[in-house]
Amino acid sequence: MKFFIDTADLAQIKEANDLGILDGVTTNPSLMAKVGISGEAAVTNHYKTIAELVDGDVSAEVVSTTFNEIIEEGKKLHAIHPNIVVKVPMIKDGIKALKWFSDNGIKTNCTLVFSAGQAILAAKAGANYVSPFIGRIDDSNWDGVQLIEEIAEIYNIQGYETEILAASIRSPLHIVKCAQAGANVVTSPLEPILGLLKHPLTDLGLAKFLEDAKKFK
Ligand code: E4P
Repeated sequence: MKFFIDTADLAQIKEANDLGILDGVTTNPSLMAKVGISGEAAVTNHYKTIAELVDGDVSAEVVSTTFNEIIEEGKKLHAIHPNIVVKVPMIKDGIKALKWFSDNGIKTNCTLVFSAGQAILAAKAGANYVSPFIGRIDDSNWDGVQLIEEIAEIYNIQGYETEILAASIRSPLHIVKCAQAGANVVTSPLEPILGLLKHPLTDLGLAKFLEDAKKFK
């Protein structure tokens, strides 16, 4: 399973990248706003900086909702850097745009996916990634990880090549469960990724080893 970081914060991207386990980055308009990036020039520049920092796919989301506008915006995003993946919302014109990008060799990530039916449509349209929002599904009293299992089973039966990119991750356990459920990629904020490191027995064991090691110095 590939690890993407879900943020537009350059310091956090660098910290995850320095671990040596980072395969890519996802952003969305809310994450860009959170780090104070606004205006076309600043947004373009920020995506370029991220794409030059990380050796992997960087999802950049369109904010258009009609076919022609999505295509124009997506082409501009794609031109920023070869690793930019155009992130397109799961709407009718988004599906048409996914097919157009697929036919024209531009990689895409279909976002705001909350059902298996939507995931089937994204795959049929040729999306490279499909992003089911695990945490937001859990928030609405459904089971996000179960959706990953369902999509993985369908894609396997049908032979779809679209990669399942588990998004809206809230905890280290989400990452573990998504790996178990068949996600190809997980995109997570930095904290749940670092949370995977933690176990009290590791801390206790290391403290004891370091204490005993002093006896041999
Ligand atoms: C990533 O592609 C999504 O935009 C993101 O994971 C959404 O996460 P949130 O539900 O925590 O906002």
